[in-house]
Amino acid sequence: MKQIFIRGGVPLTGQVRIQGSKNAALPILAATLLAGGEHEIKNCPKIADVYYMLELIRSQGAVVCWKGRNLSVDTRQLTPGPLGEKKEGTMRSSIFLLGAMLGRFGEVDLEYPGGCVIGDRPVNWHITHLNKMGVIFCDSDERINAKVSKLIGCEQYLTFPSVGVTENLIMAAVLAEGTTIIHGAAMEPEIVSLCEFLNSAGAKIFGAGKSDIIIQGVNCLHGGNITLPGDRIVAGTYAFACMITSGGILLEGAPTSYMTRLIPMIHAMGGNTLITEDGIYLYRREELCAIPYTITEVYPGFPTDLQSPLMAALCTANGESVIEERIFGNRFRVVPELIKMGADIHIKEHTAYIRGVEKLHGATICAEELRGGAALVIAGLGAGGETYIENCGHIYRGYENICRDLSELGARIYGE
Ligand code: EPZ
Repeated sequence: MKQIFIRGGVPLTGQVRIQGSKNAALPILAATLLAGGEHEIKNCPKIADVYYMLELIRSQGAVVCWKGRNLSVDTRQLTPGPLGEKKEGTMRSSIFLLGAMLGRFGEVDLEYPGGCVIGDRPVNWHITHLNKMGVIFCDSDERINAKVSKLIGCEQYLTFPSVGVTENLIMAAVLAEGTTIIHGAAMEPEIVSLCEFLNSAGAKIFGAGKSDIIIQGVNCLHGGNITLPGDRIVAGTYAFACMITSGGILLEGAPTSYMTRLIPMIHAMGGNTLITEDGIYLYRREELCAIPYTITEVYPGFPTDLQSPLMAALCTANGESVIEERIFGNRFRVVPELIKMGADIHIKEHTAYIRGVEKLHGATICAEELRGGAALVIAGLGAGGETYIENCGHIYRGYENICRDLSELGARIYGE
């Protein structure tokens, strides 16, 4: 799909099912290589990044089969080898294959990961902490080559609660000799899902979701299973779409217990919420209010992945909002495109100042990355007239079918 077309100005109503979590699915798919067996992953999102990861694990001999939204992955017979070329260049999450391949085979040959252009994304901490477990890295600009005769469990102190580093260390530690303790670990819900999956495959992990995680190495693993939670970032994106258009929507399957920072924000924007058995019902009938100051933080703080969608929604809020991006160095790339639609935003270093305008107007704009692309969809829904979003392949890396979902809520949106 090359382009998305939107005729804005329609309040969203009705209900939509929230897809399974992308950032839970990707490390778990990598972890299937670690645990030789037949794995069941339910509620798996059908998005480009998942398809990339499936091609990567297939290239190592995994047998993959979809049954509706459920995936079965058989990794009993693998033929490990250099992990492909092109694909990794376009996806950051290939880095998760580091811990998985080292854990199972003691070696890995992986292209340097690519991914969104939202800032420098070095892998220095991954290398430093795996080094401590006995891994030897061979220098190369293009590829990551690493070997280890035996992974040794140890105490690890993370200087920053990196999601990827925490996940790679967990995968390296489950089959290591002895016990690993990760101090200062990331506490994102996706870490909890990864540990739930690995424990179902015979691992011994304690403290997932806390800042100290203990992993007792075991000799072998078997097939695992998990039902992925709904995607909290997709749920947040649709919540902000409802805020900019007004209306009332039910987000079926939204992981409300993971949305603790988002819900008070909806209230502060003039919205209302009702948590139901199925998910969350939210609506806005009053004026859209500005949010004085938002900082993106590690979990349970406000997620950086919702920063651009929030910014788009605040473009027509009454008053000035300030957003400080503290996780990635270059995550305001969507701003020039929003300004083309009449937004009043200026940037100073890592802070954006958004002065609400009466209304945005339609325009032809271009997506440059995943969450920025979703933000442009939100802006288009709130704008008067017609909006064309080009280069929207980025959006399908993380959203199964954003046009289908939003048109189910009454939006005039079409993918071309
Ligand atoms: C995960 O990326 C998510 N991706 C990202 O979501 C999310 O934005 C990020 O966590 C933060 O929440 C997946 O789970 C697949 P980090 P990850 O390691 O693991 C720096 C989306 O839109 N850093 O916690 O790569 C890094 O540059 C994506 O769905 C180093 O400096 O994030 C960044 O500034 C985008 N050296 C910060 O730490 C390292 O070795 C946080 O990165 C590793 C990271």
